[in-house]
Amino acid sequence: MKLLKLLPLLGLLALAAIAQPSTGLSDPARGPVPVEKPSHPPRLTNAVNDDVRRPRNYDMQPPTIPHRVDGYQIDKNFNKCLDCHARTKTEFSLAIPASPTHYLDRAGKVLPQVSTRRYFCMQCHVPQEPVQPIVGNAFEGVAVPTGK
Ligand code: HEC
Ligand code: HEC
Repeated sequence: MKLLKLLPLLGLLALAAIAQPSTGLSDPARGPVPVEKPSHPPRLTNAVNDDVRRPRNYDMQPPTIPHRVDGYQIDKNFNKCLDCHARTKTEFSLAIPASPTHYLDRAGKVLPQVSTRRYFCMQCHVPQEPVQPIVGNAFEGVAVPTGK
């Protein structure tokens, strides 16, 4: 019954949507779709998994992840990344140990484990998709960053 009462309202909303005038504007980052129309971004495919560490463009850039991370659990009980990247694990995992900066609290005190500030790795580190950028990018990295 409730739904029936709502129907005229839905109809009106639909009409309002159709009647919206085209602005003629588009945003290249969304493709050639006018801004008032929903765009359909391409689906994500498989992230690059070539295990090749990428050059950094400037000091203090978080390195991108050169391997897939699908389904890795990161929550209060377990952190899959630390299973390989914690410095106590790298002897066996042969992963690059998370750098010493990750073991400092905000007061600069050295901690025995990764700081909670660095716990959610993918806030800063991301895998890469094998796609061409939609818009041009003329960004140039610093010639010789001191990081690896
Ligand atoms: C099974 C072990 C393993 C797990 C789990 C793992 N990694 Fe890695 N990671 C590696 C290894 C080994 C490398 C070195 C390059 C390679 O072989 O892919 C690496 C490389 C990296 C690098 C590149 C470092 C650099 O200096 O270029 C980053 C960043 C990274 N991993 C982040 C993560 C994050 C974030 C997670 C969790 C979402 C994660 N890794 C989970 C093994 C692992
Ligand atoms: C707040 C952002 C941030 C978070 C969160 C973070 N990192 Fe980093 N990470 C960085 C930055 C910036 C660098 C490069 C500068 C440095 O070494 O501190 C880096 C460097 C690294 C490196 C390369 C070390 C080397 O010697 O080349 C690894 C591996 C890494 N992080 C792993 C991790 C893992 C695993 C986690 C999660 C437990 C994590 N990071 C969480 C920002 C972050």
